[in-house]
Amino acid sequence: MENQNLLNEINKRRTFAIISHPDAGKTTITEKVLLFGHAIQTAGTVKGRGSDHHAKSDWMQMEQERGISVTTSVMQFPYADCIVNLLDTPGHEDFSEDTYRTLTAVDSCLMVIDAAKGVEARTRKLMEVTRLRDTPILTFMNKLDRDTRDPMELLDEVEDELKIACAPITWPIGCGKEFKGVYHIQRDEIILYKSGQGHTIQERRVIEGLDNPQVEQAIGSALAQSLREELELVIGASNEFDEELFLAGELTPVFFGTALGNFGVDHMLDGLTEWAPAPKPRQTDLGEVTAQDAKFSGFIFKIQANMDPKHRDRIAFMRVVSGEYTKGMKMHHVRLGKGVSISDAVTFMAGDRSAAERAIAGDIIGLHNHGTIQIGDTFTQGDAFKFAGIPNFAPEMFRRIRLKDPLKQKQLQKGLIQLSEEGAVQVFRPLRNNDLIVGAVGVLQFDVVVHRLKTEYKVEAIYEAIHIATARWCACQDSRKLDEFQRKASEHLALDGADNLTYLAPTMVNLNLAIERHPDIEFFKTREH
Ligand code: G4P
Repeated sequence: MENQNLLNEINKRRTFAIISHPDAGKTTITEKVLLFGHAIQTAGTVKGRGSDHHAKSDWMQMEQERGISVTTSVMQFPYADCIVNLLDTPGHEDFSEDTYRTLTAVDSCLMVIDAAKGVEARTRKLMEVTRLRDTPILTFMNKLDRDTRDPMELLDEVEDELKIACAPITWPIGCGKEFKGVYHIQRDEIILYKSGQGHTIQERRVIEGLDNPQVEQAIGSALAQSLREELELVIGASNEFDEELFLAGELTPVFFGTALGNFGVDHMLDGLTEWAPAPKPRQTDLGEVTAQDAKFSGFIFKIQANMDPKHRDRIAFMRVVSGEYTKGMKMHHVRLGKGVSISDAVTFMAGDRSAAERAIAGDIIGLHNHGTIQIGDTFTQGDAFKFAGIPNFAPEMFRRIRLKDPLKQKQLQKGLIQLSEEGAVQVFRPLRNNDLIVGAVGVLQFDVVVHRLKTEYKVEAIYEAIHIATARWCACQDSRKLDEFQRKASEHLALDGADNLTYLAPTMVNLNLAIERHPDIEFFKTREH
């Protein structure tokens, strides 16, 4: 019985993240979703507006706001019969590695598109990442209260550019000042929009049936007539929703609305709770682990410095993959090969950090990390397997870090290695000299690193330009050939924070030559933890 209860609880979990281009409305939707989850009382309380628009000089403030972003990193709330876990992803593209890893911890994604703009660059990039695991995608076309592009054209663009079939679940009636609401194709209902209700949960104003004469009264006969004609075309020309294709990541249900006006977000949530998958299995080096496996297991996908700078500890975010965490339980830390008792994990119910008594497959818990936990670490109930698939990406920007006070070399190295374990930056130590080189995906990361070295490690450092274009992780089964490669290419080789051999190429031409010259060596663009 007990077991059946646990299985029922697991099946209620929906763990998802929002992917979008900055400004499409992710923050606004998050706010409305929390409103529906009764996690907040009025919209406008989640976080400061425009957190994606930080200019470089604003990042200190962003540091301060991290206090808030730790608690909003994971938000758990009930909706319908489900318990929903929404994982926030940093909006700023300089932190996109964090975003990528967060996407390994969810079972589905909501793609938000600004309906005036259509598919944008970052959405494209993030969709590529969700493809790696065939993550099911729901789509929300946002900002219908403004003049938008033709909805059919938007669906075509998603299909062409993102290679995913679209199945409209709702269809907009007008847009901008003329936005009247949506037709729910599946339920054969018209749901009417009223402007100026964005801060509250609106009562749904529903007209049953497209042919209902009330439609004329509500939106006028001309619009009613053209809506019926349009829908005939739309339903004929577009895909029907197919749950199997959705679960395979090949088809996305599409909803229309306005996050600001809090209209349509609940239709999307209905779809999420009804169709999005319960916690999915994860691959390990010893086979698959399913959510229903009785024994507890989980992996770390993100580490974040604590909001309170006086406490040096960090929070390691764990996705529970199977079984159940209970307070005080003993876990096996696979990489260290030893048992640890976890008595003070935190959960994120209703956006608030609170001590976790219990968490189950699909949930996220936060572990206090005093330097022993790294991104990618696996925790189990005694088993020695490791979860696969949490990537490090080859950085695209490099700087040499120099000390103001040369006597602090040791602290600097320690600080950088810890920051790299946390995923804040990647560190490389060339084989031929004592330089410390940091690599990042976005330039803002360098400022953050220098600031954190100063505040957390008491090391004053500066960074300077260095002539490196890209990095590749190197591997070869044949150790003799690897040795030879290390000798011949030593000028360009370095060890990363976890002692993996890396080739630092001054130019792409140089990299291509190295790949040609050393056919036995594999060069990787990503490294799994
Ligand atoms: P993001 O997290 O994806 O970056 O987007 P965010 O929610 O912050 O929204 C970006 C801007 O778009 C905000 O404007 C927000 O109010 C607006 N917005 C979001 N949803 C809608 C919608 O449904 N309709 C309309 N008309 N606007 C919407 P802002 O705070 O004024 O900032 P900005 O315009 O200066 O960027």
